[in-house]
Amino acid sequence: MKTIGFIGLGLMGSRMARRLLDAGHRLVVTNRTAEKARPLLDAGAEWADSPSDVARQAEIVWTMLSTPDVVEELASGDDGFLPHMERETLWIDSSTVDPSCSHRMAAAASSHGVRFLDAPVSGSTGAAESGDLLFLVGGDPEDLEDMSPLFEAVGRKTLHVGTTGQGAALKLVFNQLLGTTFLGTAEAIVLGESLGLEREALFEALEDCGALPAGLRTRLRAAIREGTHTPGFPLRWIEKDLRLASEAAARGGASLPMTDAAKSVYGMARINGWGSKGIAAVFEFLRGSLPSSASGETGGER
Ligand SMILES: NC(=O)c1ccc[n+]([C@@H]2O[C@H](COP(=O)([O-])OP(=O)(O)OC[C@H]3O[C@@H](n4cnc5c(N)ncnc54)[C@H](OP(=O)(O)O)[C@@H]3O)[C@@H](O)[C@H]2O)c1
Repeated sequence: MKTIGFIGLGLMGSRMARRLLDAGHRLVVTNRTAEKARPLLDAGAEWADSPSDVARQAEIVWTMLSTPDVVEELASGDDGFLPHMERETLWIDSSTVDPSCSHRMAAAASSHGVRFLDAPVSGSTGAAESGDLLFLVGGDPEDLEDMSPLFEAVGRKTLHVGTTGQGAALKLVFNQLLGTTFLGTAEAIVLGESLGLEREALFEALEDCGALPAGLRTRLRAAIREGTHTPGFPLRWIEKDLRLASEAAARGGASLPMTDAAKSVYGMARINGWGSKGIAAVFEFLRGSLPSSASGETGGER
């Protein structure tokens, strides 16, 4: 049994932390919005008042936060957790960030004698709940080996991608594909409907269209049918990930014009109130719909 400090109990973190608790580990948690910790505390987790409080108690700190800025602030900002971790303990960051953030965080960790793995995940809230996430890990293979029982408690598979930052890099590749292909598919449905094709018949016909990955077709079809657009994977995160992908590519001398175009579309959807809805809501945005809870959300990355 390990003592794990979990920081970031949002849609994903709360479910990942629950699996660690259910696997028998001692779990110390904190979150900006304290009430989100309630179900975990009721199940036996312990509350800490701040990230540094978590770090003082934990052998392993695990973060699942929104953006690179937030990760950096909680780790290294005023009252950041890194200086409070014991030497030789380990920090796993599962937030989707860019590789340069992972490099900076690994260096900051190392300056305190702390080991670091970037370990973003592929899979959404359903997979987090059922333990079916795929971890994409960058860092020392021995550190990964040490942590493998924890990864196994939370995920179905752990890929050691390479050195620090390479887990984060592969995650951006995954989400560049997801974001652009999803938008292309949503546009294809909008095109078909605008040409008078009936939606369900269109989806049926697309079963035989080799251009469209089956997984994506199924996911978009189900989401459009349901029409609720509950945020398994909130639309604002795909906009963020496409931005991170584009900026990271630019630093490496590559340009991603299609990614940039897709990012703008998701950004417009967010500004129109769809940011907290699931990614499939981009279809409704393209059709000119307004979100049912239209509150004029301009969608800062809260
Ligand atoms: N949702 C998915 O399907 C999915 C799948 C794979 C990867 N991811 C990635 O995983 C990460 C978390 O996603 P999520 O869906 O769980 O997001 P979420 O529900 O919005 O959770 C984000 C977490 O970050 C915290 N946070 C945000 N800003 C903060 C700040 N300024 N100070 C302190 N804490 C702050 C939030 O605290 P509060 O609770 O107080 O807001 C929350 O704990 C993101 O990087 C996302 O891209 C998400």
